[in-house]
Amino acid sequence: MKNICLLLLAITLVSCSERKVWRIGVSQCSVDIWRDKQNAELKMGAYFHDNVELKFASAHDSDERQVQQIDSLLDEGIDLLIVAPNQVSTISTAIDRAYDKGVPVIVFERKTNSHKYTAFISADNYEMGHVMGEYIVSRLHGHGTVLEIKGLDGSSPAIERHNGFMDAVKKAPGIKVIASLQGDWTEPKAYEATKQWLINHKDVPIDLVFGANDRTAMGARKALTDTHLLLPNTLFCGIDGLPGKDGGIQQVRDSLLDASYIYPTHGDQILDLAVRILEGKPYEKETMLMSALVTSDNAKVLQMESEEIMRQAAYLDQLHEKADNYLQQLGTQRIVNWLAIGIIALLLAAIVLFYLYHVGKMTLRKERVVNSLWNIKPEDIPVIEGTTEPSKPSGETAAVEQAEESEPIANTFFITRFKEAVESRLEDSELSVEDLASDMNLSRVQLYRKVKAVTGSTPIELLRTARLNRAYQMLMTTDRSVSEIAYQVGFSAPSYFTKCFKEEYGMLPGDVRK
Ligand code: FRU
Repeated sequence: MKNICLLLLAITLVSCSERKVWRIGVSQCSVDIWRDKQNAELKMGAYFHDNVELKFASAHDSDERQVQQIDSLLDEGIDLLIVAPNQVSTISTAIDRAYDKGVPVIVFERKTNSHKYTAFISADNYEMGHVMGEYIVSRLHGHGTVLEIKGLDGSSPAIERHNGFMDAVKKAPGIKVIASLQGDWTEPKAYEATKQWLINHKDVPIDLVFGANDRTAMGARKALTDTHLLLPNTLFCGIDGLPGKDGGIQQVRDSLLDASYIYPTHGDQILDLAVRILEGKPYEKETMLMSALVTSDNAKVLQMESEEIMRQAAYLDQLHEKADNYLQQLGTQRIVNWLAIGIIALLLAAIVLFYLYHVGKMTLRKERVVNSLWNIKPEDIPVIEGTTEPSKPSGETAAVEQAEESEPIANTFFITRFKEAVESRLEDSELSVEDLASDMNLSRVQLYRKVKAVTGSTPIELLRTARLNRAYQMLMTTDRSVSEIAYQVGFSAPSYFTKCFKEEYGMLPGDVRK
């Protein structure tokens, strides 16, 4: 059943192969587990649209590289650009170029300072920072010190999360943000920044670290651990709440993080939006994605659910791979089939040509002999209206002749008799038309006229053809020499026989046996 489904899927995919293929460029600002998950979802989404081709590029947190990558995606002729700009202003020129070229642009998750985009899709980063700030205030019961690790300066989620967080904690005068360090979204950067800061702040107690994402919170945790400054009751909060190994949900469940906030990736949803735009269907220009806080209360359930989703996704991935293999095999099989058909057709053509050239040639030559006399059909024999007698035939002969001339069947008898007369004396090289005429009780002239009238050939021509025809048969069916055969069919000289044979059949007697 599974195989049938795969086959059906393969057939559907093949039959749809005529449709326009949408080439979608995905320009990611970074490489990390959050982006990996999103890219996997984008691919998964593309599985459901058999006419979508994705081209991924990742700028590794470099503005310059991202600009170049967008430009080369445009040069490759993409139909739509999905982009997460590294920073608010630095990538805008490239994005504007795409938009001005008529390529629809979906900006996702990080904002730009340009209005040249077709759609924007993201969760609310200010809201996220704000909710996290409120959570922290309540977690610390309104009193305590907080170390903030910010995201990349100039990237919109970093700015918005920071603002949301600050606005929330400002409301609680007992909460003191002792420092806001630059973590740039990466664990190593957060680790280094924290370690540096700790050099001069060894004695400052930290109640809670708020990382703009989970990786930076974990980087700070590692720095405190490595410097032996981690207090037993220091809490760590982040944002992203990814499922799976090393994801925020598991880190909350394992109490490495106190809380996280799910920052939805939703690659499949982004891809659907892209296809809607490309197909000219209605779409939302601004989409806000739902999101939720992860704490020790729900981490276990969320982890279980996300593991199930990931299991299904992996299964779908395998299924798609199988379908791909089927398609590939199908393609290869088709090529092999066409090649085989081509080779067979060529062989057949060669055989037919060979036959026409060699066998057909011989058959045609033989037919000339056969039709001339020996297999002549009654209906082919013309009615002879009468002959001008050069000398008066004897009484009995004249009567027979008149009767024979009256209908075609009589001519057939005449030809049969003539044939018998010829064949019975074929070996005789001295045989003359007079001899044949007298064998048939006719005068030489009577025989000449009658034969000529019925067959169109003279008796001498027919005698020669009969000799050559017999020779041809002997060449085919015996292993006697050409000279022997020449004598046996009534030629007095083999060289003359060869000459006549060549004239009649267009080949030398020896060639018959080849
Ligand atoms: C992934 C990431 C996330 C973060 C987001 C902000 O590249 O660093 O961890 O939440 O980008 O744009």
